[in-house]
Amino acid sequence: MPSYVIVGASRGIGHGFLKNLSADPSNTVIGLARNPSAVEPIPNVTILKADLLDPASLNAAASRATTLTPDGAIDHLIVNGAYLGEASAFIAPSGFVGKEAFFLSELQTSMATNVAGVLYSINAFLPLVKKSRIKKVVVLSSGMADTECFQTAGLPHTVAYAISKAGVNVLVAKYAVEFKDEGIKFLALSPGVVGTSDFRQLSPEDQEGYAKMAAGFAKTYPDFKGPVAVEESVGRQLEVIHGLTLAQSGQFLSHRGNKEWL
Ligand SMILES: NC(=O)c1ccc[n+]([C@@H]2O[C@H](COP(=O)([O-])OP(=O)(O)OC[C@H]3O[C@@H](n4cnc5c(N)ncnc54)[C@H](OP(=O)(O)O)[C@@H]3O)[C@@H](O)[C@H]2O)c1
Repeated sequence: MPSYVIVGASRGIGHGFLKNLSADPSNTVIGLARNPSAVEPIPNVTILKADLLDPASLNAAASRATTLTPDGAIDHLIVNGAYLGEASAFIAPSGFVGKEAFFLSELQTSMATNVAGVLYSINAFLPLVKKSRIKKVVVLSSGMADTECFQTAGLPHTVAYAISKAGVNVLVAKYAVEFKDEGIKFLALSPGVVGTSDFRQLSPEDQEGYAKMAAGFAKTYPDFKGPVAVEESVGRQLEVIHGLTLAQSGQFLSHRGNKEWL
């Protein structure tokens, strides 16, 4: 009867985790969302209110979660929610000349949500994870944080977002060091390129940026055929999560369980 908490589960990949995991009625599945009433309901899933930027809301959700599992333990904590910074996604570093305040604001929101919010989430649920025998904490990262990947593909964009994901990879490794002796396994996991955004809604300028990004991916990965469906990414990620060992704790891996990001 494994239990799962997904932080930031209202839509996209987070909601995909809820759907996949709840298909097995022996799982206890809890999703956290800023606005639970806006989440498409799924049988066998409890949605609790919590915001990555609000530690008190995460602590309250953790207290509630202890009452929802038979032993008060959480086996898998998956921190999925993130600020994706779509307005700055396709601006390269030098494109922020004259837009310094905008860059700083994007960087601050990315770091607050994608790094500090992850730390708040993990700290809120650690007491529950410690009660488990499985003890797994997974944070959604991005191949965009792999410097070799984006240099080979020629991708100067998603600056603040990529910095925040590189930062959270360090945070995950720090937790792995801190809790190695207690057997808690931590992983930064990239989901691949997943079709959660509607790129047709981008401005013409951003569509050009997106086309360059897709061309860069295709250059690095000749088999790349565009974003995969949420279901496929979630299925692959769960294989990696279920196979995660203590020896791998602190690593940054892809949905393929290696350093192939697409
Ligand atoms: N899609 C991809 O190709 C891709 C590639 C690499 C990495 N990733 C990573 O995968 C994860 C999920 O991405 P996605 O594509 O599913 O994104 P998405 O569709 O944009 O969904 C983002 C999720 O994060 C939640 N969220 C944002 N800010 C939050 C906050 N302050 N508190 C709580 N929840 C918050 C959103 O909730 P609301 O509904 O309340 O806004 C939503 O559920 C992210 O960590 C992302 O960086 C995605």
